[in-house]
Amino acid sequence: MHKNLLVMLLLMLAIPNMSFAVEGPTLEFGKTLFESNALGTKQRSCNSCHPNGKGLEQTGDFNDTELKDIINACIRDAMGGTLFDIDTQELEALLNYVKHLNPERGTRNEGRE
Ligand code: HEC
Repeated sequence: MHKNLLVMLLLMLAIPNMSFAVEGPTLEFGKTLFESNALGTKQRSCNSCHPNGKGLEQTGDFNDTELKDIINACIRDAMGGTLFDIDTQELEALLNYVKHLNPERGTRNEGRE
């Protein structure tokens, strides 16, 4: 892993978050959410439909705000869940994780799993 990314992650871990007892919008938190069945009522996770980033190849065509809207649309329509507010750690973490899954956008091949 690149040193700068590591430093950034450590910083994100260190910043206290008053609204939610999580460690910030880290990739790890994003992954947890991405694989969780608890976001909706249909016993599905993002990973059910997008295993290994399947179907997420076009994310480079959207900006962050648009991607958050799309993620929320998937949560509501595909998962039967409740929309996250645009500035929540959860949505930010999912956004970061989705971008990280797509090697064409931003974090090319860095720490892919
Ligand atoms: C029931 C299946 C299903 C679930 C669950 C689901 N999605 Fe989707 N998602 C889709 C479909 C269908 C599309 C339409 C675009 C496509 O076919 O590529 C899509 C599109 C997207 C896109 C736009 C991708 C692009 O490249 O155009 C993103 C980002 C996305 N989903 C993220 C998520 C996230 C994050 C979750 C979990 C919170 C999630 N999705 C849950 C089915 C699903």
